Amino acid sequence: MPPRYVRPENERPEINHLDNDGPIHIPVIDLGGLEGQDRQETLRKISDACKNWGFFQVLNHGVPVNLIRRTREVGRQFFSLPLEEKQVYANSPKTYEGYGSRLGIEKGAILDWGDYFFQHFLPLNLKDVNKWPAKPTAYRETMDEYSQQINKLCRLLMGVFSTNLGLEEGYLQEAFGGEDIGQCLRTNYYPKCPQPHMTFGLSPHSDPGGITVLLPDEAVQGLQVLKDGRWVTVDPLPNAFIVNIGDQLQILSNGIYKSVEHRVVGNSQRDRLSFAMFYNPNGDKVLSPAKQLVDEDSPPLYAPMTFNEYRLFIRKRGPLGKSQMKSITKTN
Ligand code: OGA
Ligand code: NI
Repeated sequence: MPPRYVRPENERPEINHLDNDGPIHIPVIDLGGLEGQDRQETLRKISDACKNWGFFQVLNHGVPVNLIRRTREVGRQFFSLPLEEKQVYANSPKTYEGYGSRLGIEKGAILDWGDYFFQHFLPLNLKDVNKWPAKPTAYRETMDEYSQQINKLCRLLMGVFSTNLGLEEGYLQEAFGGEDIGQCLRTNYYPKCPQPHMTFGLSPHSDPGGITVLLPDEAVQGLQVLKDGRWVTVDPLPNAFIVNIGDQLQILSNGIYKSVEHRVVGNSQRDRLSFAMFYNPNGDKVLSPAKQLVDEDSPPLYAPMTFNEYRLFIRKRGPLGKSQMKSITKTN
């Protein structure tokens, strides 16, 4: 394996480490339960998952299985193209947008064993379909449809989270900017990795935005979530999504919800494809903990900041797991 992917020994994933306590799993929630007599129980399960895990899988999410299949298909087809064809969409080091390859990058940094394609859907002025792959021909249309379906799911979750926090149902959506929010997709392609114990597919991080809806690979595991100091491997259910809380929801909920660190470990036998849709606040809106969740006993934990300021701040500091959340923490 080329040296620039090899991590210092103390930073490597201990994937041979056996769990003595047996496997543990992130919560699974049937969103169908939000209708009818199981509503309260379902709300409670979601609330527990947001507080204790920051991660859960959802079933009966309303996104058609057929669309999920087509999304995976166009994603695979794009990454199967020859490198030269993908490089037409290469991102500049400045904008995250477009094709990012392990194969052409800034010097010095230790690299992750993965490529990605990053694209914007919202706000509309950032959506530029000409920067999206023209091949396969169904790519643009399929991704558009997919983004709309995930948008619906995120709005539903925003309402549920607001209600669970004891806020008005529309509170979080409004705090994110109402109709004027951000939505973007990072499609991750992790090629087969010759020595997965020496590197990461994706280094440990928390997601900076609001909600992430991940469509994982249907056949290959790799995502791990930090729970009580242990890395828990996610075992994806067929056609389920993995939902996780981002830093901005940790801030708005004043730390009641957790944006949890996660990472991807490579696989020596098979490649892996995943789609991470990010549902984010408007970049210019100042976010701070909801007033209703702050009092003398629970002072605000985070200083007011816009999402754009926050992103700039993390980018300058580089990926440092969750330490950036600590550095915007107020010291009263
Ligand atoms: C991400 C992410 C996980 C995965 O893109 O932010 O955490 O399984 N992806 O690819
Ligand atoms: Ni992530």
